[in-house]
Amino acid sequence: MKYKNKKLYIENVSIEKLAKKYGTPLYCYSFNKIKDNIANFKNNFKSINPTICFSVKSNSNIHLLKIIKKMGLGADVVSKGELLKVLKVGMEPKKIVFSGVGKDYDELNLAIKKKILLINVESESEIKQIEKIANKRKIKVNIGIRLNPDIDPLTNSKISTGRKEDKFGISKKQLVKIVKKIKSSKNLNLQCLSVHIGSQITNYKPYSKMLNVIENLIKKTKHNFNYIDLGGGMGIKYEKNSKELNYKKYSSLISRFLKKNKTKIIFEPGRSIIGNAGILISKITYIKDAIKIKFVIMDAAMNDLIRPALYGAKHEIKAVKKNNIKINKLHEFVGPVCETSDKFSSLKKYQKLHENDLLAIYDVGAYGMALSSNYNLRTKPAEILVNRSRVKVITKRQLIKNLI
Ligand code: LLP
Repeated sequence: MKYKNKKLYIENVSIEKLAKKYGTPLYCYSFNKIKDNIANFKNNFKSINPTICFSVKSNSNIHLLKIIKKMGLGADVVSKGELLKVLKVGMEPKKIVFSGVGKDYDELNLAIKKKILLINVESESEIKQIEKIANKRKIKVNIGIRLNPDIDPLTNSKISTGRKEDKFGISKKQLVKIVKKIKSSKNLNLQCLSVHIGSQITNYKPYSKMLNVIENLIKKTKHNFNYIDLGGGMGIKYEKNSKELNYKKYSSLISRFLKKNKTKIIFEPGRSIIGNAGILISKITYIKDAIKIKFVIMDAAMNDLIRPALYGAKHEIKAVKKNNIKINKLHEFVGPVCETSDKFSSLKKYQKLHENDLLAIYDVGAYGMALSSNYNLRTKPAEILVNRSRVKVITKRQLIKNLI
């Protein structure tokens, strides 16, 4: 995303032109940004040589999954739908891991049938369910066990997953006993110890604590895990002055861990691969100049992008056509949905705006379209992919007639 003569472009294509042709709200992704993100991710962890499984929940667009697969990544899935989709894309089963606290019989049965790399189990009941299927099919199933390390990842509480009060994983205390049980089962093959302590993590210290807990548990269980799955969670820079994760530090901590523990690392990144590769283009429907607030009423809403309403998440909003006229009044960027929380941002001042102007909401590639809905019976936006000057529609705009 860059400005040329004060107009915003995605790669070589003008956003104005895209909005005119495809309408708004419109999700736009940069092919080369995705490519760079993957290359950077691999480079940051070069010395570790990890298996990288893209977390499909962050963005499950089939065209984007195809690109991600082509670039050598596997997949982290959490439902039958996601599993079927990555198989359809041609992901090798041996590069797929299945996470989640509530995988049902049907989902486990499919994962076992397709012989994926790992099912990361999260409870004794799930283990029993897998054993039942394995017995029936008379095969040995590769599993991982997800640990709840009781660590605060120092991120938004709603996306923290590794504290003892969170529903995910098995506590340190119970894990040792459960590992013993799994090892005594003739149909289960315990391959992996997995963790995922949260998302949008920008401080390496929780990761450091996590590695220490894992190391201790490996000693306690006396088990040789072929894989340690460290999950995802690597944060991105949503605001100009926000902190970024120190990859160098995280990577060197893992290298040190690997010197003491002979195993292979799996990562499950979502946001760090796709987050900053997408923007949401929206048109201003009205500007309501209230007494102390200028309400910029946009045609995108919380149904298109729920992160600000759900997590208080901050996304930069930029004018597609820049000008130098500053208006010193509180601007509230809102959508048309009938909820007060349908607000993207509040800014003390902003450049002069007009009705029908276009705005770009940044860093919405992850958990943007993926969490969109038809709330207020609004259609879902279209998605397009830009590669230099080439534009491809990767999801057509939903039609209102299909909702009624
Ligand atoms: N692995 C597991 C087991 C996960 O639960 C998640 C995300 C990931 C990997 C990928 O995490 P990432 O690298 O993307 O941080 N909707 C929220 C984020 C929820 C994350 C859920 N789990 C948001 O918009 O911030």
